[in-house]
Amino acid sequence: MKNSMSRRQFILAAGALAGSAALAGCGESSTSSSSSQGTSSSASSSSSDDSYALVKDGTLTVVAELGFAPFEYMDDKTGDPEGFDVDVINAVAERMGLACEYLPNQKFDTLVPLIKQGGKADVAVAAITITDERLQSVDFSEPYLDSNQAIVALKGSTETEETLNDASKQVVCQGGTTGNDWIQENLPNATRVPVDDVTAALTGVQTGLYSAMVVDLPVAKYMLTNSFSDLDIIEEIATGEQYGIAVSKDNPNLRKAINKALEEMKGDGTMDSIETKWFGSTI
Ligand code: ARG
Repeated sequence: MKNSMSRRQFILAAGALAGSAALAGCGESSTSSSSSQGTSSSASSSSSDDSYALVKDGTLTVVAELGFAPFEYMDDKTGDPEGFDVDVINAVAERMGLACEYLPNQKFDTLVPLIKQGGKADVAVAAITITDERLQSVDFSEPYLDSNQAIVALKGSTETEETLNDASKQVVCQGGTTGNDWIQENLPNATRVPVDDVTAALTGVQTGLYSAMVVDLPVAKYMLTNSFSDLDIIEEIATGEQYGIAVSKDNPNLRKAINKALEEMKGDGTMDSIETKWFGSTI
């Protein structure tokens, strides 16, 4: 599928925009230092190899499914997106000399197709696991976090991977996720129930509608600690996943600029401090 990059305006990834860094902001302000903005080097020519396309001039437009705490969720009071990913992309945008704006919440399984199609958002940042299947449609930044899956059930439940692999057991997941794939591959006999909303899924486990949920381990830990104290992680599954920022294949220089920012953030302690803020320690 061809996207409409030619109709979009090209901007320079250069220091020209560094002065607007103060505008950057996706919800909560980040913990980043501001030592290294605008370090791309394409200021001299508009046909420079470093230039990349943006949906909106001077702004990194982000799309996400905003029901995945602590990675991205809506702050009840401000109505703004908040979370680990929000801080990460905010700091990335700041380093690129760009403002940062979130589109309204989208269903998770629409994010990769939306980036592939182009024209609406520059990046999808949603604890998205880099997979071979998704790499057919979009590119990803270098990984920014390691993750695994978890099976969640009622506290005191006697369910195991073995008992759940039965048609009488409803195992819920968020549609289009790697949790969904894991159920398909590892619990082929279970009745898999993909839903849009993680909180609704966990509530369903709480009320006995579902026997268990398969979801990213950091989300399970966070949600159980903060809102679902009557649920338990009955198994941690070492899937060895890595999260990446999804970018259109038609926009390779945007990916490069994001990777540069991520590398700086890994090097200067910004990434560690965002991890500590959301997880209490580095992961
Ligand atoms: N890491 C999993 C995946 O990529 C789940 C991500 C869900 N993210 C979200 N914001 N709902 O499939």
